[in-house]
Amino acid sequence: MTDILKVSGLNKKFGGVTVAQDIDFALTPGSMHCLIGPNGAGKSTFFRLILGEHAPDSGTIEFRGEDITRLRSFQRIRRGISVKFQVPGIFKALSVRQNLEVAFQHHLHGHNLEATTKRVLEFASLEREVETPAGALSHGQQQWLEIGMAIGVEPKLLLLDEPTAGMSPDETRKTGEMLHDLNGRGITILAVEHDMAFVEQIATRVTVLHFGRIFAEGTISEIIEHPGVQEIYLGVADE
Ligand SMILES: Nc1ncnc2c1ncn2[C@@H]1O[C@H](COP(=O)(O)OP(=O)(O)O)[C@@H](O)[C@H]1O
Ligand SMILES: [Mg+2]
Repeated sequence: MTDILKVSGLNKKFGGVTVAQDIDFALTPGSMHCLIGPNGAGKSTFFRLILGEHAPDSGTIEFRGEDITRLRSFQRIRRGISVKFQVPGIFKALSVRQNLEVAFQHHLHGHNLEATTKRVLEFASLEREVETPAGALSHGQQQWLEIGMAIGVEPKLLLLDEPTAGMSPDETRKTGEMLHDLNGRGITILAVEHDMAFVEQIATRVTVLHFGRIFAEGTISEIIEHPGVQEIYLGVADE
């Protein structure tokens, strides 16, 4: 089976700082994969490289067998890559409906826009908050709205950067169920996450990034038992 995403020999420096070093990374279609690593490891930068918001210094990115390394972000989105970034991407003064309209405006019109909006509202459990300003939603609801904004285009690959940050355990569990639901509909998922219970809930495979390099990769139990990972990551998380 062709990997849905294949990153080969990816390198990126900001000034003198290496943020991606010789990254070889692949995602199996239909998988749920987590990316973990200490703050500053380069996880968010890796997402921006995949989406095309940063150009790599060298290396290639293939999506569904096509080299997309030189494509612009909107071209990658059109091919089926969608990202929910770590920085909030909702407009707090706009209603839930208006936020969805802004997110979908370039991709959906008329009946499609209406049908997708309805489906996403239901998915995000926001049917009763349609006219609520996004800023008045709970933190969890804001994150779900943003995930909803990212799936309107019906991506084939969804990247989520710390989707459960600041959530209660219940909200986190529900988010995991939502991602399983999306995965069941054929969407491959790559999520940056710190909460190991959440990683256990969703991930079939885990990759550890450290100083812009892939430090380890394996199943959740392999990663938890990996002594080096405990040192660089789990140790840090326990501080
Ligand atoms: N646009 C940028 N310009 C310069 N340095 C950046 C930029 N974005 C991120 N960095 C740096 O790249 C490194 C990795 O950051 P980031 O990808 O945000 O890490 P993570 O998401 O793993 O916490 C950090 O040292 C950060 O300061
Ligand atoms: Mg980050």
